[in-house]
Amino acid sequence: MENKIVAKESATLTFQNKQIELPVYGGSVGPDVIDIRKLYAQTGAFTYDPGFTSTASCESHLTYIDGDEGVLLYRGYPIDQLAEQSSFIEVCHLLLYGELPNQAQLTKFTRDITYHTMLHAQFDRFFEGFRRDAHPMAVMTGAVGALSAFYHDSLNIDDPRQREISSHRLVAKMPTIAARAFKYTLGQPFVTPRNELDYPSNFLRMCFAVPAEDYVVNPVMAKAMDVFMILHADHEQNASTSTVRLAGSSGANPFACIASGIACLWGPSHGGANEAALAMLREIGSVDNIPDFVRRVKDPNSDVRLMGFGHRVYKNYDPRAKVMQKLCHAVLQEVGHTDDPMLKVAMELEKIALNDDYFVQRKLYPNIDFYSGITLSAMGFPTSMFTVLFALARTVGWIAQWSEMIADPSQKIGRPRQVYTGPTQRNYVPLSARG
Ligand code: CMC
Repeated sequence: MENKIVAKESATLTFQNKQIELPVYGGSVGPDVIDIRKLYAQTGAFTYDPGFTSTASCESHLTYIDGDEGVLLYRGYPIDQLAEQSSFIEVCHLLLYGELPNQAQLTKFTRDITYHTMLHAQFDRFFEGFRRDAHPMAVMTGAVGALSAFYHDSLNIDDPRQREISSHRLVAKMPTIAARAFKYTLGQPFVTPRNELDYPSNFLRMCFAVPAEDYVVNPVMAKAMDVFMILHADHEQNASTSTVRLAGSSGANPFACIASGIACLWGPSHGGANEAALAMLREIGSVDNIPDFVRRVKDPNSDVRLMGFGHRVYKNYDPRAKVMQKLCHAVLQEVGHTDDPMLKVAMELEKIALNDDYFVQRKLYPNIDFYSGITLSAMGFPTSMFTVLFALARTVGWIAQWSEMIADPSQKIGRPRQVYTGPTQRNYVPLSARG
């Protein structure tokens, strides 16, 4: 990766009567960064930033977010333009190779992905080790990690061609694995990928087809799946992406790194929020119960949160949420659920929250998860699959970020420090002498 950051000025830090000059770099857009790499050597002090709220952990060319303005760009292209005019497979090319493909590149890339969708036959037997009632995210974490036990010929991270093949394998096989995780919990036979279908249609077929009858892909659902995947494809240095980069910084293989990202994504503050948001809407149940629920959210003694609201970076409407809201209406229209009680609760809740001082002052706006649960549910997915679908879509972002990191000459093993507040050194006390 060609580094693009340029020193533009320096910042002066005065610490213990010593003055230190710290270089300041600018990116192509966004806040400047103060380079503190030599701080410890020069001062003997660390910086302290739990949750990395003020820390840029890497240089990246992939995704840009302006949280105050509600802007999200993949390689410079606004998310709403990509969602409306592009396809997920084009977006995968954009994220992995830096540019939207021309026709010849798109044909080749589509073929490369399509011809990697099958799994090793032995891999199918691997699923049988899980309990049928396992959460599909548990299955995903284990199964994706297990890819490194099946594809030894693309594990050399120092070989760019092997890295590329691993990227293709991950993007291609993730829908097959996700669909198998779903089928396994249902107790239905696995469905083999079909090369004549496009990426979202193939995935829907692998999830919903059964041997007893033909399955015809609904184009509205295929489009919805495609847009859902575009919206979730990458999101800068979020928790799971940072996890992938941190795992990769030690030289771990890409399949192991993506498995670590999946594990991180599972949490309810991150990818698990779409599941939590739908559970919340169901718990509220009807518009009449909203005021009481909002009172509980605002109560300082309660830990109830309005799931699908708020974001570490967006202090404005999440641009993905606007597209997701439109998608939600289109899917509900298609399945004839325009009167869906969850949608009514969501829309009313959104209206109330956007006008309530508590949420306005804290700049809490709907995020992508607010409408995605209702949408996915109407498409036929159970809540336990929601985070799996997020993981499927985010895989391309994770692997593009991982590839970028491996090619970056300034990359080092990630190794944060700490402020230690535990006991200072003390002598071992024999058991007989302990009170
Ligand atoms: N409902 C009610 N209050 C909230 C919420 C919420 N959803 N989110 C933040 N707050 C309050 C919080 O209580 C705090 O108030 P106070 O200053 O009075 O203590 C203030 O807003 C700041 O909150 P924070 O926890 O310091 O903010 P954060 O940047 O650490 O948290 C977040 C970001 C996404 C974890 C949080 O907003 C949240 O828990 N939201 C609900 C879960 C959710 O929807 N997550 C999906 C995120 S988008 C998808 C993804 O990236 O994975």
